[in-house]
Amino acid sequence: MKLTIIGSGYVGLVSAVCFADVGHQVLCVDNDRQKVERLQSGKLTIYEQGLDFLFNRVRREGRLKFTTSLEEGVKASSIYFLCLPTPEGENGEADLSHVLKVSEDIGTILEKSGSHEPSMVVTKSTVPVGTSERIRNILKKSAPQADVDVASNPEFMREGFAVEDFQRPSRVVIGSASPRALEILKELYGPFVRTGNPIYAMDERSSELTKYAANCYLAMRISFINEIATLCEAVSANVDDVRLAVGSDPRIGKQFLFPGLGYGGSCFPKDVRALIRTSQEFKSPMTLMVAANEANSQQRQRFCQKIHRHFKGQLAGLRFAVWGLAFKANTDDVRESPALDVIAFLLKGGAKVVAYDPEAMTTTRRILGDRIEYAASAHEAAMDADALIVATEWNEFRQPDLNFLKNRMKSPTVFDGRNLFHSKQLKNLGFTYVSVGRGMA
Ligand code: UDX
Repeated sequence: MKLTIIGSGYVGLVSAVCFADVGHQVLCVDNDRQKVERLQSGKLTIYEQGLDFLFNRVRREGRLKFTTSLEEGVKASSIYFLCLPTPEGENGEADLSHVLKVSEDIGTILEKSGSHEPSMVVTKSTVPVGTSERIRNILKKSAPQADVDVASNPEFMREGFAVEDFQRPSRVVIGSASPRALEILKELYGPFVRTGNPIYAMDERSSELTKYAANCYLAMRISFINEIATLCEAVSANVDDVRLAVGSDPRIGKQFLFPGLGYGGSCFPKDVRALIRTSQEFKSPMTLMVAANEANSQQRQRFCQKIHRHFKGQLAGLRFAVWGLAFKANTDDVRESPALDVIAFLLKGGAKVVAYDPEAMTTTRRILGDRIEYAASAHEAAMDADALIVATEWNEFRQPDLNFLKNRMKSPTVFDGRNLFHSKQLKNLGFTYVSVGRGMA
């Protein structure tokens, strides 16, 4: 099939490459000229495990192309995937301006072309309940003659594992009022569910809500374990033991129970607030999500307070090594990264920050510029530091040369926001070690 993917961010690019990989002819449209030129010249614009290999192959085989022209994109196929940003608006709601404007433009182009061929607009962006309906109304106005369906197809891929998640999804969710659209989407996703994982077809609103329900449940789970971790500190219990024992109940499960600095990234924080907003708009307020959101911001503050307390509020002139800038491991994404909040706190106190991240230094430099120093390695960052802060759970931080750290740091003090190290081991070596929720350790 011929497909047009509008928006070449994480979701758009990964979807485009994976669809092209199974044989489709894919044209990506993005209004960022620089990005398109970079992609056209064979350079990826994001770091994502396994993406470069497939990207090079499908480009070489001529199945993946890029353009800045929406008109070209609309004329190239009859299936238009919207993979556009839906950033947080002023009151927590999802800002739909890109999605709605592009939908209108697609309609205008279809109308001008006079085409009566069946086509469809599929929303992959995370959009609030009712958006498909709004898109359909916009298309009815801008393209009254066109035969265009609307469908919702939320994407559940995780950054860092996006290719794997796209190729082997635990489930595919599609929602549309049009049986024709649902059939085409089932066919498109067929190659990715050969092991029998389900494709759930439903109405648009349920499909739209499914995405928020999934992300918000996971966010709530993280806030839950973070609050349990705080309680562990208060009652002198160890959250690692509690987490493992609790997670062994199959009704609960072991995943997504790691306490830390709170969830970040481009999805959870914004989706939680958007669901709060939707629930208020529909006069069905969700108290759980309000609490999850509040607990998440407190989690970051609490970690900063530990540093503040340790140094008795005197951060000025101290040198902090920060390991990890990305909001989680295996990505270069620093959106809503807890590391940046911790750094902001340190800089505000007059401290000096030397950071290292295997992938996210370029993305951080775009935000923080020269306000911090960037080291060439984790160990280099730690040299002469008054304290080391672990902010992202990159594998390469898990087993550092502790003797090197002990001898080369100004003071062997570690604030571990991801519980990467063994408390006893560090304490036995003479480190001051502060982690999350290990009251006994
Ligand atoms: C998430 C969803 O998992 C994905 O399905 C959706 O499509 C997009 O949003 P992503 O933002 O890539 O994916 O990150 P994810 O791996 O889910 O982690 C989200 C946040 O939770 C990160 O900040 C991570 O550090 C944190 N987290 C995760 C924890 O603090 N503890 C955990 O146990 C798991």
